[in-house]
Amino acid sequence: MDGKLAEEMIDLAIEQLQYSYAPYSGFKVGAALLTKRGKIYTGCNIENAAYSPANCAERTAFFKAVSEGEREFSAICIVGGKDGVLTEYTAPCGVCRQVMMEFCDPAAFQIILAAGKEQYEIFTLKELLPKGFGPGNLA
Ligand code: THU
Repeated sequence: MDGKLAEEMIDLAIEQLQYSYAPYSGFKVGAALLTKRGKIYTGCNIENAAYSPANCAERTAFFKAVSEGEREFSAICIVGGKDGVLTEYTAPCGVCRQVMMEFCDPAAFQIILAAGKEQYEIFTLKELLPKGFGPGNLA
């Protein structure tokens, strides 16, 4: 991943924090998802008074993209923090890792965890979800 592209994705993920709807946890999350053809879809977390319908920022970005016909992805950037203040990395929850597993090659898909524009680390999905269960298991 080119550093300039990673920084562009971090900027877009940070921009999403303003749209985060997190009145219950106060924990705001933003994501920027890169398709293989170079388009970026963004997302924020969206909570709910009934709690369990809450949607993470990563899944918001994935579902926006898939609902517009995208199926191939190369990377996602995630930022988050209490009241939108970034202090440490926000790693994707297990459900979001599983959604990534559905559409991405675990060895190639890159997950950028950022705590600021120049403070980030990149992991593959395979590193964050070893021995994942995916569409290949049902083939
Ligand atoms: N959240 C995300 O949006 N993404 C993550 O990777 C971790 C958690 C959201 C869900 C909930 O709205 C809030 O953060 C606190 O768990």
